[in-house]
Amino acid sequence: MANGAIWHQSKVNKQQREFSNGHKATVFWLTGLSGAGKTTLATLVEKRLFDIGVKTYLLDGDNLRHGLNRDLNFSLESRQENVRRVGEVAHLFSDAGVVTLVSIISPYTTHRRAVRQLFSEGEFFEIFINCPLEVCKQRDPKGLYQKALSGQIKGFTGIDDPYEEPEIPDLIINTADELIEESAEKVYRFIQKKIILS
Ligand code: ADX
Repeated sequence: MANGAIWHQSKVNKQQREFSNGHKATVFWLTGLSGAGKTTLATLVEKRLFDIGVKTYLLDGDNLRHGLNRDLNFSLESRQENVRRVGEVAHLFSDAGVVTLVSIISPYTTHRRAVRQLFSEGEFFEIFINCPLEVCKQRDPKGLYQKALSGQIKGFTGIDDPYEEPEIPDLIINTADELIEESAEKVYRFIQKKIILS
């Protein structure tokens, strides 16, 4: 390790925590445009998991920018650092035995791939929350597309900043084609299968 820090091994490992919790500690990474429905979906799914006794937590991109990532903006470098930090936090939560939901635009394939590499097979799943840009613009829940289109915000994802769609996501949810409850049901069922202890 470049900074000379030494790794200390805990006396409780991830497998023991998973066994104690009764489920695997998997990360579900929701990527998609602003307004695609990531946070709404993740919030619904988090509640359903909590209600059946799953240890779960939602790491939301917008929320984390109020604290951990408050020093970051929306430049390429900041977005990369944002995704890297959230990936590391998700890794810690996963190590702590928690089913971790992440809702974050994470617009670049290389940044998402770097996060995936922190995890072993079966520990991390990418869920593409797919919604046409036109629909996101119409929804515009925070009025940000309007601001971006009128030039008040520069470098807004989908308008004058890129969004690279996942090439082979583990699950695709088309939020423009169905009710949010239907989308939530699909994500919930997907997660339920993936967190069963073998
Ligand atoms: S990411 O690109 O770095 O992954 P993140 O998910 O943390 O983005 O934050 C996105 C949220 O920040 C959006 O939902 C929106 O509310 C807000 N936001 C403010 N400026 C921008 C911008 N230029 N591009 C995208 N989102 C922005």
